Amino acid sequence: MNKITSKQLREAWLNFYKSKGHEIVDPVSLIGDGTTGVMFNVAGMQPLMPYLLGAKHPKGKRLCNIQGCVRTLDIDEVGDPCHHTFFEMMGNWSLGDYFKKEKTAWTIELLTKVFGLDINKLCSTVFAGNESAPKDEETENLLLKQGIKKENIFFLKENWWELEGTLHTPCGPDNEWFYPLTDQECGRKNCDINCPCGRFVEIGNDVYMQYEKVENGYALLKSKNVDTGFGFERMLTFLNHEKDNYKTDLFSGVIALMEKALGVKYGESEETTRSMRIIADHMRTSVMLIGDENGILPSNLGAGYILRRLLRRAIRHARNISLPNDELLKIASYYIEKVYNEAYPLLKTKEDYIISSINQEIEKFSKTIETGTKEFEKLAGSIERKIEFLRKSNPDYVQTDADKVISGKAAFRLYETYGFPIEMTVEMAKEKGLSVDMAGYEVALKEHQELARQSSSIAKSGLASSGETETKYHTATHLLNAALKKVVGEKSHQMGSNITAERLRFDFACDHKLSAEEIKEVEDIVNGWIKEDIVVTREEMSKEDAVKAGAEHQFLDRYPDVVSVYTIGSASKEICTGPHVKKTGELGTFKIKKEEASSSGVRRIKAVLE
Ligand code: ALA
Repeated sequence: MNKITSKQLREAWLNFYKSKGHEIVDPVSLIGDGTTGVMFNVAGMQPLMPYLLGAKHPKGKRLCNIQGCVRTLDIDEVGDPCHHTFFEMMGNWSLGDYFKKEKTAWTIELLTKVFGLDINKLCSTVFAGNESAPKDEETENLLLKQGIKKENIFFLKENWWELEGTLHTPCGPDNEWFYPLTDQECGRKNCDINCPCGRFVEIGNDVYMQYEKVENGYALLKSKNVDTGFGFERMLTFLNHEKDNYKTDLFSGVIALMEKALGVKYGESEETTRSMRIIADHMRTSVMLIGDENGILPSNLGAGYILRRLLRRAIRHARNISLPNDELLKIASYYIEKVYNEAYPLLKTKEDYIISSINQEIEKFSKTIETGTKEFEKLAGSIERKIEFLRKSNPDYVQTDADKVISGKAAFRLYETYGFPIEMTVEMAKEKGLSVDMAGYEVALKEHQELARQSSSIAKSGLASSGETETKYHTATHLLNAALKKVVGEKSHQMGSNITAERLRFDFACDHKLSAEEIKEVEDIVNGWIKEDIVVTREEMSKEDAVKAGAEHQFLDRYPDVVSVYTIGSASKEICTGPHVKKTGELGTFKIKKEEASSSGVRRIKAVLE
């Protein structure tokens, strides 16, 4: 196994599949286009879904690329050596062309001939079968024929790949590839791929997408497809005999910048190392999201809210390890100029914009921190004065921990009024020998959310007296919101809504007056969905899960912990208190009557159902 740079790995992957007749397809935007119901692109196959389901791809039946993905599900794991919020996936696809025989042979050829892995050590897991699909013996036989040792093949029930929770998506059994990091067994009885010691790494998988997920199971697709995904960061780390992704050339420069600024060595202190990784990861994702072709900015909504959280988390960790804010900007520039200059040239074009946007957020957050800190000091001061008073007025007074607690209500007020993050209140309290009543904080937060839910549900449902017509307008509003995202772009989002029995009124973020064509397009999309007579479903889930599922939302912190999410097929998913119609066919014909400015950067549509 030879050492390899990120640039070499990109080229090796694409060249190999080009030599097998694949066309390189351009990676798509990281920001979801609203058609799949997810906020970000989460897999290499996601943009190819229609083609895996049978549509004809303009570039043919054999495709490959390296696609950026954003997954925030594992955000709490970031800080360890291998989890990221942005990562790249090396992929190749057969759209009803070659199948298992070629795919197994090519994966083995790439791993052994190009990357120099030992075929005798290469392990493979294969689908064990269940009531929906048979055991994949065909793949096992092919692997054996191509030289994989029988004892290195494992049948597993979990070897099935699908996009969670999404109907009408392609899926199928998968064949995963593993390799030992060392020959040294850990001492347990069977130190194989299932051993908890982690001697084996999973390096990638080939999914045989033959099925479509349907209401009550799986239906066979007309074509037999292949969907391959190998994690770029993981593979690079592995091929360089490392266990820590941050030691590869994707991160080493950024880590070195931090080491220099801090005068510490990466890996020395656990806490500092964790913060360095979080900063490196979150700054990279922020650069990618702002610099994307459909770039977003930090905000309190949807994808913008995720971006804000990532940036603010990076800023907080920088503060924790005393890394000056300027270094964050240097890190961003380093990614743009040194790491992704070739693979993502758009970043360089947008560099000034990316850096100034990050800087603005740093400044905004710094102001929040500044005001919040002042308020915190007042609060801490009053507790200290109270203790002082007790001491002076009672010579027998013995100070207890209970005297040094900041009440949950007070901590919540810091958050609610000044946006001061609870983590910072806790941290600063600790520095002063005080503590925060977290249970009380949660209670205050819940009370507030409940009040907000009640008032917003009253406001939203027109004083809780939605008649049939208003109910229709509620559903039409969701469709309009989704259609606008398609026509104006993902950046368009709800800024306000008002419904009467006569019309709907909808305010949304948009930087231009809609043209007659755009208005027509929005109407056509909405009417298309109405014609499709799509079922409207309602699910209850935690706010966290709803956001993860990509549900639209306007006032995230005003919602209760458990929210209702209304889904209209693949057209729309929104957190909402309802009410809604059962099927879109009930709506009639949607017509936009007026499009006008509402305020700066906000447009207003009035529309009716006829
Ligand atoms: N779609 C498969 C994955 O994401 C290849 O792992």
